[in-house]
Amino acid sequence: MAMSSTSVLSPQQLESWHDDGFLVIEQALSPEACEQLRRQALMLVDSFEPAENATVFDTNDQSHAADDYFLSSGDKIRFFLEDGALDDSARLTRPKAQSINKIGHAMHDLDDVFASFSRQDPLGQICTDIGFSDPLLLQSMYIFKSPEIGGEVSWHTDHTFLWTEPQSVVGMWVAIDDATVDNGCMWAVPGGHLEPPRFRFRRDGRGGTTMEELSSEPWNTDSAVPIEAEQGTLVLLHGTLPHGSGPNTSDKSRHAYTVHVIEAGADYPDDNWLQRPTSLPLSGFQTA
Ligand code: FE2
Repeated sequence: MAMSSTSVLSPQQLESWHDDGFLVIEQALSPEACEQLRRQALMLVDSFEPAENATVFDTNDQSHAADDYFLSSGDKIRFFLEDGALDDSARLTRPKAQSINKIGHAMHDLDDVFASFSRQDPLGQICTDIGFSDPLLLQSMYIFKSPEIGGEVSWHTDHTFLWTEPQSVVGMWVAIDDATVDNGCMWAVPGGHLEPPRFRFRRDGRGGTTMEELSSEPWNTDSAVPIEAEQGTLVLLHGTLPHGSGPNTSDKSRHAYTVHVIEAGADYPDDNWLQRPTSLPLSGFQTA
């Protein structure tokens, strides 16, 4: 168990975290580190050949291959396309880097640059500050939200997708580009994390997934606030906080990187979509 006596978060920040369910920490990570991560993401995209996974990206037959590609990505580095990125012949309609919606979901364990970025100071200490005793890095995503085509992400909570008992998931979201209302920054419902979960997304036992409704009560999205963030800003997101983001209608990209962390002692159901084989166990913030 990694424990330190040097807190990063002030009592006021911890109070905001508990009240709002999110916390914006400016200049948490350096511009140099963010630019290095961007270069690495673009390099990974360079090596990606959509044609090698033609069935996955075949818009006429999305079901089984696409499900498999997603469901087996928990221990891999995979590429997910924007809607409409391919024409009827499965050819990209735009340059490759602008066709990618995100890379996921294990760069933090499989790629050296992503691994170091994900474990740099002060991320581990911040997890300790907000109450983790043994945090594990579960999932990583590099999100592109490209100019004029980056799509919206509808209202959701991360606990819905990364369920533990008791609830423990926290999102660590880092602005790689400045995020504004114009280029599709996140929005969140302050205090919404105190409400019960509405949905659980899980494997259906037949090779697919299902979105189970736990409550039909809508979230109060009228009280949502935009979370604009300059490059290097870290946004902590409680697992039950309703959040989403608009489309990018601007001419500026809105790259971001997220790592989702869970508590090692919490139960991790075997019907969660993301499963890790024993060959690649989850690890914490300790660097080798
Ligand atoms: Fe999310």
